[in-house]
Amino acid sequence: MTRTTPPTRPLTTKEGWQSFLDNTPVIPTMHSPDVLAAMDPDARGDDDERRLAYHAQFVTVATPQMRKIAAIGQQLVVLNRHQTSARRGLIVTGAATLGKTTAITQLGKAHELRVRRRTPETAQSNRIPVVYITVPPAATPRMIAVEFARFLGMHAHRAMNITDIINSVCQLMSDTRSELVLVDEIHNINLASRSGADVADTLKYFAERLPATFVYAGLDVERVGLLSGTRGRQIAGRFALLEITPFGHGSDEQRNAWAALVAALEQSLRLRNHTPGTLVNLAAHLHDRCAGSIGSLSHLLRAAAIDAIIDGTEKITRAALDAVLLDRSAEAARPPATAKRRKKAADVA
Ligand SMILES: Nc1ncnc2c1ncn2[C@@H]1O[C@H](COP(=O)(O)OP(=O)(O)OP(=O)(O)O)[C@@H](O)[C@H]1O
Ligand SMILES: [Mg+2]
Repeated sequence: MTRTTPPTRPLTTKEGWQSFLDNTPVIPTMHSPDVLAAMDPDARGDDDERRLAYHAQFVTVATPQMRKIAAIGQQLVVLNRHQTSARRGLIVTGAATLGKTTAITQLGKAHELRVRRRTPETAQSNRIPVVYITVPPAATPRMIAVEFARFLGMHAHRAMNITDIINSVCQLMSDTRSELVLVDEIHNINLASRSGADVADTLKYFAERLPATFVYAGLDVERVGLLSGTRGRQIAGRFALLEITPFGHGSDEQRNAWAALVAALEQSLRLRNHTPGTLVNLAAHLHDRCAGSIGSLSHLLRAAAIDAIIDGTEKITRAALDAVLLDRSAEAARPPATAKRRKKAADVA
């Protein structure tokens, strides 16, 4: 059966992480007009539902920046595997919705799938090669330790003090041979506050005790001061910093990279009347509209595809794109002429 149901458990638990690994979206079949005409209304409804679910989730494109993060991450895991101390890590930073979480989770997925391929099935059951946690807002060291415990499925009951939790987590992660630890939302660590500084120390302690590679991701980490001051400099000394930037459109190379992204997403559409190449021809307009953000582009195309299935047009046109309301930052960066066209398109609709 073709199903594209997203994982129901959060990614920050080992069960959620496993369903993310096993969840390869099934691309809906495109039926010929004859087959469609012969379908009864229920079958057509099911077909629409499958395509709605598919576009809501959509596809992940291996962008140049994602490939770079994957390559550096893999290189660090191999280097660190043979280090007893002073292991090096990676920080992925950048503005909102540029794909930081996608990049680090895809790095983790690729790593775990490589481990699975290398490891005989019987040895796989007791391995947790990748751990993914997020730093909660206003985190304390205990909250971080509990995040690790939650991912691993360990119950950190109230009577356990933080040292007990950390010891149990480290023991379990070493038994299960965790070798890649992904820590997302690190901008929630405020080094200027006492508890924020303690959280940074706790993460450093985990990194020293565990024979694993640590990869952090967070919003503008330099701007929020995560790499300054004594603790910040300690982090900066151990971690390579990779900034995800919006796609540019100034040089030929940049325009080609953006057009390739638009093309990959356009080819993944499953709409019955869409003319291939329409979106690639609108690449410059889409760049203006999304301010080069992959998050805004993905949202724009998913929203337009869903509208096209619901209203039966089954294609994405410039007017349909202009009628989609984007996030605040992309809309604010939008040239006034485009904004006017959008209003006109909305008025006509
Ligand atoms: N390589 C990609 N291919 C397709 N879509 C992508 C890709 N990277 C990101 N996206 C889409 O962009 C949106 C934002 O991505 P993501 O959550 O990874 O960004 P982020 O930088 O972690 O955002 P935040 O700052 O909110 O944490 C998501 O909808 C995601 O599906
Ligand atoms: Mg994120």
